[in-house]
Amino acid sequence: MSCTGARAPFTVAIDGPAAAGKGTIARALAARFGLAHLDTGLLYRAVGAIGGDPVAAARALGPADLARGDLRSLAAGQAASRGAAIPEVRAALADFQRRFARQPGGAVLDGRDIGTVICPEAEVKLFITASPEVRATRRWRELPAGTPFETVLAEVRERDARDMGRTDAPLRPALDALILDTSTLAIDEAVARALEVVRARLGAG
Ligand code: DC
Repeated sequence: MSCTGARAPFTVAIDGPAAAGKGTIARALAARFGLAHLDTGLLYRAVGAIGGDPVAAARALGPADLARGDLRSLAAGQAASRGAAIPEVRAALADFQRRFARQPGGAVLDGRDIGTVICPEAEVKLFITASPEVRATRRWRELPAGTPFETVLAEVRERDARDMGRTDAPLRPALDALILDTSTLAIDEAVARALEVVRARLGAG
C-alpha cells in the first residue's frame, strides 16, 4: 500500500539509530506544528516485550501493549531489534504506520525506515545520527548507576549492526533526507534546524 493520495498529507519522517536524538526532535516538531507523533520503535519494543511468536504478537498488537511500563530497557531494545528483522513482523505493522503518517492534519513519525519504506512520499525527511560513543554515553547516563559503559556501547553497536544489516527495510538514510549529526551539533541546535526545515516546507506548500 502506498501513502500517496490520502487527504491533507504532510508527513515528517525521522530516521536514525538509537539515542541519536530522534525522539527529542520529533516531539519538538509535533508540539510546534500541531502534528500527531508516533514513536514507531514502541511498536517493535511491544512486540518483543509480549514474547512468544513475534509475528502473532505484531498481528495482535493493541493500544494497551504500547502503554506497558517495561518498554524502555536495554533488553527491550534488543528484543525489539531482533523481532524487527523478521519481514512478517514489519508487514504486520506497516499499514497502521502508513495510515498514521497520512492522517488529516499531518504527522511526524520517528523510526528506522519511515522515509525509505513506510512513507517515501514524506514532505520532510530527516536522518538523525551521532557516533556510537556519543549515543552510548547518552544511554548510559539514563541508566541506573553501576551499569558498565562498555556494556552499553557494545549494546549500541550490536543493535546498529543488526538494524543496518537486515535484508528487509535496513536502517539507512533516504537519498533525499537531510542528515543531522548530533555528535557535533547540540540537540537544541539540531531541533532549531529541524524546525526551520519544516517551517520552510510548510511555507512552500
Ligand atoms: O527507536 P527504538 O530504539 O525504540 O527502536 C527499537 C528497535 O526497533 C530498533 O533497534 C529497531 C526496531 N525499529 C525498526 O526496525 N523500525 C522502526 N521504524 C523503529 C524501530
